[in-house]
Amino acid sequence: MGAFSKTEAAYEKFGAEEPFYAVLTEEKYKRKQIDQELFFRTGEDLLARQMQLIEDRGVHLPRENALDFGCGVGRLTNAMALHFENVIGVDISSTMIEQANQLKRHENCSFQVNKRADLSVFDDGQFDFIYSDITIQHIPQPESENYIRDFFRVLAPGGLALFLVPDGPVLRPDSFPARFDKFYREQVRPFHKRMRGKYQIQVHRMSQHRVETIIKETGGRLLSVEPHPQWADRSKRYKPLYYWGIKPPV
Ligand SMILES: C[S@@+](CC[C@H](N)C(=O)[O-])C[C@H]1O[C@@H](n2cnc3c(N)ncnc32)[C@H](O)[C@@H]1O
Repeated sequence: MGAFSKTEAAYEKFGAEEPFYAVLTEEKYKRKQIDQELFFRTGEDLLARQMQLIEDRGVHLPRENALDFGCGVGRLTNAMALHFENVIGVDISSTMIEQANQLKRHENCSFQVNKRADLSVFDDGQFDFIYSDITIQHIPQPESENYIRDFFRVLAPGGLALFLVPDGPVLRPDSFPARFDKFYREQVRPFHKRMRGKYQIQVHRMSQHRVETIIKETGGRLLSVEPHPQWADRSKRYKPLYYWGIKPPV
């Protein structure tokens, strides 16, 4: 089984057994003690902050169609539905989407499974806003790169993609350090997790240079790159960055 399919299988299992903890891996979100209000409030607070930043930066988005990529149980999709007319949450895991449909709080959001390694299920220029939080990091390369490219295809001109990717070193493709890093993240760490009875979730990184190159190649314009406000100093090895990319108006 390839690394991409392994992630899919891990989230099918995780979503069926511990859908909230699979999203925010803190003990309090385990099924036996979950406070769903608290869980969904974390999404509303985060979205309110992001929407405020969008406004502060003078980015004027039509508030019509939005996409939540890697929506899980809909923590952020439901929050986005407070700010946009139609929101679609998409996820590779059918067990996550099953929960998202059961827990849905707003009529103007919907959920769909997408098992493809791209966003070909969506039309060009369909969304004003794409948000993706704590998802791309779980997808191996090259698939994660395909999704980032597709963000800028499915965005409407003038639309904004805001997504989180942990920063990593610049490695020459196919060099020994690049192949070692891939092997370590796709095989070694998931194996250790399995040995310790944990879910085999992979965590990947991408250099800022690589993400910026992809955005440039799609014709997107990078507005800004910012460290995650809470996690920037949490660990030396995990440096998540928010990328703000605009599809230039025609
Ligand atoms: C840590 S959860 C985050 C969920 C949500 N973004 C949130 O913050 O509430 C990661 C999610 O990404 C999904 N995922 C992993 N690979 C994916 C892919 N290739 N396409 C879509 N979703 C994916 C998983 O199934 C899981 O629901």
